[in-house]
Amino acid sequence: MFYLTTAIDYTNGSPHIGHAYEKVLADVITRYRRLRGDEAFFLTGVDQHGQKVQQTAEKEGVNPATFVKRTTKKFLNLWEKLDVKYDGWAETIDPRHKACVQAILTTLKDQGQLYKHAHSGHYSVRQEQFLSDRDRDESGEFGPEWGEVVELKEENWYFKLSDHTDWLKSYLEATADAIIPSFRKSELLNALERNSGTDLCISRPKERLRWGIEIPFDPDFVTYVWFDALINYISFAGYRAAPDADLPDFSSLWTTDERPVHIIGKDILVPAHGIYWLCMLHAMGFADAEMPRLLVHGWWNIRGEKMSKSLGNIVDPAELAEKFGVEALRYYLVRDIVTGKDSDFDVERLIMLYNTELANELGNLCNRALNMSQRFTEGVITRGGIFSDEDLALQTSLAESTEAYRTAMDEFDVSKGLEALSRHVVHCNQYAERMKPWELNKDPEKKDRLATVLQHLAESVAHCTVMLSPVLPEAAAKLAAQLNLPFLTELSLSDLHWGLLPEGHTIGKPKPVFPKIVLDEEKPEVK
Ligand code: ME8
Ligand code: MG
Repeated sequence: MFYLTTAIDYTNGSPHIGHAYEKVLADVITRYRRLRGDEAFFLTGVDQHGQKVQQTAEKEGVNPATFVKRTTKKFLNLWEKLDVKYDGWAETIDPRHKACVQAILTTLKDQGQLYKHAHSGHYSVRQEQFLSDRDRDESGEFGPEWGEVVELKEENWYFKLSDHTDWLKSYLEATADAIIPSFRKSELLNALERNSGTDLCISRPKERLRWGIEIPFDPDFVTYVWFDALINYISFAGYRAAPDADLPDFSSLWTTDERPVHIIGKDILVPAHGIYWLCMLHAMGFADAEMPRLLVHGWWNIRGEKMSKSLGNIVDPAELAEKFGVEALRYYLVRDIVTGKDSDFDVERLIMLYNTELANELGNLCNRALNMSQRFTEGVITRGGIFSDEDLALQTSLAESTEAYRTAMDEFDVSKGLEALSRHVVHCNQYAERMKPWELNKDPEKKDRLATVLQHLAESVAHCTVMLSPVLPEAAAKLAAQLNLPFLTELSLSDLHWGLLPEGHTIGKPKPVFPKIVLDEEKPEVK
């Protein structure tokens, strides 16, 4: 079983383009794995506890439970709109999750892996957190962003993180695919050097944070939000679930034959996932062969700047989908970024990529294959005469693109997979321009040649339909219907061999699937 998760999104605000990217990427990878014939399970959800949520709810004058219900709905609506299809939905206020977190805490305490300790130090009242020397500015002071800073002594529960960091170091060094892409691993190993010897504070006294999961053996405290949120990957997969909990069977999801993949952004690798989570799993008794792989994606920036509420440059994905179409947005989000690297979000590039690669190149190919077949051969596709070198070159191009697509997609590199498809589409259009089916149609002696050319174009459309389906499920369904080959949406990647279209097959009625995006200001004025 291929078990894929994403980060669970903070519900202290609205979903933005970074959230949309991560979920679409996970959706595309899951659909691709099914296309490959694998069984897959995709879990996503929301992170509902913690200081940030409590503060924002207070500011808006509602209780946190009401507040998270409202913001959670925004995420749910967006995933529906963007055709993000998950198999499991994680909400950290769910009693089943709470029971799992508390069971883990109790076990760790019984095993002597948790201890209570009084920490004294500098505390920022405004940020409600303890500060360390790393928070001082160049002059050695705590800057104005921290507000009032006081000396405070506070008791809390700690997890013996330092007992696991030697193991973590050797695990990371021994495991090639622990972190994908691998350049992120050195970042993590460096952080581990700096952090070694410190334990993790996993509680907050209720006086300063009420909105969290109570520590089961010390009711004056709630669980620190990361210790709570990270556990979603196993709690909603059925780890230590009550028999009647209606959750998946953990052992069938969390297998060693294919280790789970967690998709996360680069900001939450160190320390949350790369250190805390892997050490938590180790403390719970998970073996090296059961450790999840961390697929770390990059950042969408806005004109080179980080997206932030204060800069006011947050892009609303629902608005974009409304304006340009869901599939144009999905295509852009996985096409214009290399998995692992950062990218600049740019609406003009969204339009440009859609208009060139889909509306022009693929749209043109579909139009030629389907419309010309309809007009010149009454929609009947036949093999025609013997294959020319041009025909064979097109067949080779398709085989090469399919292979490159498969390799890239297996490595989670969706952009490269789409680029490989695009190469074949371009090849097909150049082939059509050289073969000129519109000229062949004028000469009754060239009927066989015309049939062969149209068959090569239609066959290519069928293959592209299948390979595009993880990214553009709706367009793929439309193309399958127009080709009159409904079985295309059920095919596996391994079924893609030359000759998907049966000899003498009649295609359906063609209709453009990728209308060009024309901005209002470019449209001719209607008088
Ligand atoms: O970190 N570009 O939640 P979150 C790409 N609740 N990805 C981005 C991004 C951007 N501009 N901004 C955010 C949290 N992300 C925690 C996770 S997991 C147990 C708890 C990504 O809402 C970010 O990297 O701040 C993360 O993977 C996800 O969106 C949720 O971010
Ligand atoms: Mg964040």
